Amino acid sequence: MFITFEGIEGCGKTTQVNKLKEYFESQGKDVLVTLEPGGSRLGKTLRKILLSMESQDLTKEAELFLYLADRAQHVEQVIRPALARGQIVISDRYADSTIVYQGYGRGLDPQTLHSFNEIATKDLWPDLTILLDLPVEIGLKRAVTRNIQKKLTKDEGRFEAESIKFHNRVREGYLTWAALNKNRFVIVDATGEIDEIFTQILNKVTSFEEKRVEGVSNQI
Ligand code: TMP
Repeated sequence: MFITFEGIEGCGKTTQVNKLKEYFESQGKDVLVTLEPGGSRLGKTLRKILLSMESQDLTKEAELFLYLADRAQHVEQVIRPALARGQIVISDRYADSTIVYQGYGRGLDPQTLHSFNEIATKDLWPDLTILLDLPVEIGLKRAVTRNIQKKLTKDEGRFEAESIKFHNRVREGYLTWAALNKNRFVIVDATGEIDEIFTQILNKVTSFEEKRVEGVSNQI
């Protein structure tokens, strides 16, 4: 099973990814947690370039192709092998981030980006995508505070430095894209407490798993 988490800066993805990992492990399941950008050896180098404040001169096309290179390497070297071993893979961001950030955010055509994603992933799509939704002002405040506390502003702060308008386009873009891909997206309200948010996630994951089991038994 392949699950991805998506959302704007500061939506709390990383915390919830780890909680879901712990939940699956408590059930005896084998889980691989990974991320984009940065899930492969090459990806770690690309992540530094992509998130650094020093890269503020990147063109949107150069940015796009670096994200796609990160993804191609990540899918081939990390995600597909883990799925083949029978692991549950949870990725903190994946192909939808490109559609939303480079598409709805930067103004590139989402359908063209979808075709590029098909090439980069050789058509590997998540079974379930959890979108953590919250107002931009709340998310950005959290993300900027975290970067300052962890002294990450220079190395990882390039997107946090974008305008509120950009981040609003990203949030709206996620909601639009999720509505177009209802078969695999679930939207979770990420404004509450960590445990409340996790309860919502668990409900969605459990009902997804139940539907999968039903689907399999209907085929027998
Ligand atoms: P994060 O690791 O804190 O989520 O940061 C990754 C940043 O990269 C985030 O601002 C979103 C951005 N991003 C894109 O613009 N396009 C992509 O395809 C991906 C995976 C991430």
